[in-house]
Amino acid sequence: MLKNDLILRTARGENVERTPVWLMRQAGRILPEYRTIRQRLSGFKELVETPELAAEVTIQPVDILDVDAAIIFSDILVIPEAMGLPYEMEEKKGPVFPKTVSSAADLKSLHVATPEDLTYTIEAIKITKRELNGRVPIIGFAGAPWTIFSYMVEGSGSKTFSKARKLLYTMPDLAHQLLQMITQSTIAYLKAQIQAGANMAQVFDSWAGVLPYEQYKAFSLRYIEQIAGAITEVPVTVFAKGAFFALKDMNDVSCQTVGLDWNMNVQEAKALLPQKTLQGNLDPCALYGSIAQVESATKKMLDTFNGHAHIANLGHGVYPDTNPDHVKAFINTVKAYTS
Ligand code: CP3
Repeated sequence: MLKNDLILRTARGENVERTPVWLMRQAGRILPEYRTIRQRLSGFKELVETPELAAEVTIQPVDILDVDAAIIFSDILVIPEAMGLPYEMEEKKGPVFPKTVSSAADLKSLHVATPEDLTYTIEAIKITKRELNGRVPIIGFAGAPWTIFSYMVEGSGSKTFSKARKLLYTMPDLAHQLLQMITQSTIAYLKAQIQAGANMAQVFDSWAGVLPYEQYKAFSLRYIEQIAGAITEVPVTVFAKGAFFALKDMNDVSCQTVGLDWNMNVQEAKALLPQKTLQGNLDPCALYGSIAQVESATKKMLDTFNGHAHIANLGHGVYPDTNPDHVKAFINTVKAYTS
């Protein structure tokens, strides 16, 4: 049914004809076609919550950039909202939560989300599935519980995440209760995404890098494993940004693919994770170089992964002011690469 299932076969560790490629945040502001749609709406949330439009911007990078997968257009912050903690997306500033969680009373006002709270994303996947007609697989996604917890406690991004981290010391039971609620919500949500047509699932632990190793295991990895262990229908990718210290522990997580950010040592990751497919990890800033520089940086990156199951990507989301021609140069270099 799928005309191009390269990324799925790579995730499963099968021998493949070439390295598959997609970019985190490919459905977004790098494309003028995205900005045109976005401009006529009241804001980011309207796009996320309008399934026809979310499907359209999900497919744009497949049409324009010719990537090997579509990632459904949504945000990791739909989960806290579905649990009873709404977010706002402020222009130029990012997400803000008017209410945050800091006590047992706050926790009481929240509930475990059900997919019925998130029908707009589920509907967007169904439309995307129909319109893609098997051209490439669809990646479903969610935030890792620790990253979602951080937003729910901080109320926005943060330099230190000291409010979220403080709670792990002062109210560890409360922290575990909230993390468990997020985990249950996320499992149900990812399963609904898969039911609707997602062929893969990625868990984004964007703020993994702020925790000490022992806390990372207790407050993040443990919940990621609950999610990965529950998703048996499709290959799972775990991208824990900054968690170089926990790479070895990813062996104990029931995922097929581990995402690497651009700081990570690829040789070390290959040695530590012989059974996992690796995804990444070109520095997003490498795309600001000339086309010739992009091509050579991409080849160099591919050389480092040589001999290991690999899905080419950047080490984090593509920055909004990146020239799409340079993104294309990255993609085309991966496709033309022979080791
Ligand atoms: O990857 C894709 O193309 C699919 C869509 C996607 C978005 N957000 C759309 C988006 C995905 C996978 C995300 C995940 C996400 N959202 C993460 C994890 C990945 C990462 O970058 O670490 C995080 C931490 C968020 C939270 C979030 N959403 C922030 C911090 C911001 C503001 C910063 C920014 O990039 O502008 C957003 C907004 C957001 N999410 C935009 C898009 C396209 C830009 C808003 C706009 O178009 O106005």
